[in-house]
Amino acid sequence: MASLYLSAIQTNFSGARQMNILQIDSSVLGDNSVSRNLTASIVADLVAANPGANVTVRDLDRDAPAHLGNHLLPVLGGPKDGLNAEQQAELDRTETFLAEFLAADVLVIGAPQYNFGIPSQLKAWIDRVAQAGRSFRYTANGPEGLARARAIVVSSRGGVRQDDAALDLHEITMDAVLRFLGITDIQFVRAHGLAMGPEAREAGLNKARTEIAALNDAVRAAA
Ligand SMILES: Cc1cc2nc3c(=O)[nH]c(=O)nc-3n(C[C@H](O)[C@H](O)[C@H](O)COP(=O)(O)O)c2cc1C
Repeated sequence: MASLYLSAIQTNFSGARQMNILQIDSSVLGDNSVSRNLTASIVADLVAANPGANVTVRDLDRDAPAHLGNHLLPVLGGPKDGLNAEQQAELDRTETFLAEFLAADVLVIGAPQYNFGIPSQLKAWIDRVAQAGRSFRYTANGPEGLARARAIVVSSRGGVRQDDAALDLHEITMDAVLRFLGITDIQFVRAHGLAMGPEAREAGLNKARTEIAALNDAVRAAA
């Protein structure tokens, strides 16, 4: 659990450039969003431990990328001549997303469970940054991810995991996508049971806060 924070800080202390933190939020619940509040809290802790860190916040609900459709395929590859205004705007947005993603040392991603999976806003972002030759490539030995960040994924949901973890598709998706893109140091912070009544909600929030505090304890112990 602590390895992500510690290695992120070591990156900052040992290298010449500052840490790049990319915060991705995708909840549709605005300021009431649990994952959005937790990602902000985690980023604030990271910045406190790494003064001068560069923070980029992508709120995929407040500034949502269009879903990938046939008319937006040129955004992902091929000739860029003759794009209409919408295509050009989405191409510019895609290039920004990719640059932010590839430059990140630490990703802090809010990934609520909506209808078993991730919010469609987050999927739309993945559909922009997962590009052959940019964030992964195919080799003779199979696909190779080209991103090198560490990731903290805030998993929020109204219910709790029952017997079948295979239904936690939001976590499975984020784990699979990040690994495919080269990110293997992945930390999940879980706030579950949020819609199961006040006590379960508080327990879920406390569990998440405890996980975040444990990361901070590790940082202090290493200082
Ligand atoms: C459209 C929608 C679908 C949801 N689907 C699920 C679900 O499949 N499973 C679940 O446990 N909670 C579900 N929830 C509850 C959310 O996971 C819960 O509200 C959580 O707080 C979401 O995180 P957020 O506050 O950051 O948006 C859903 C909520 C919404 C708005």
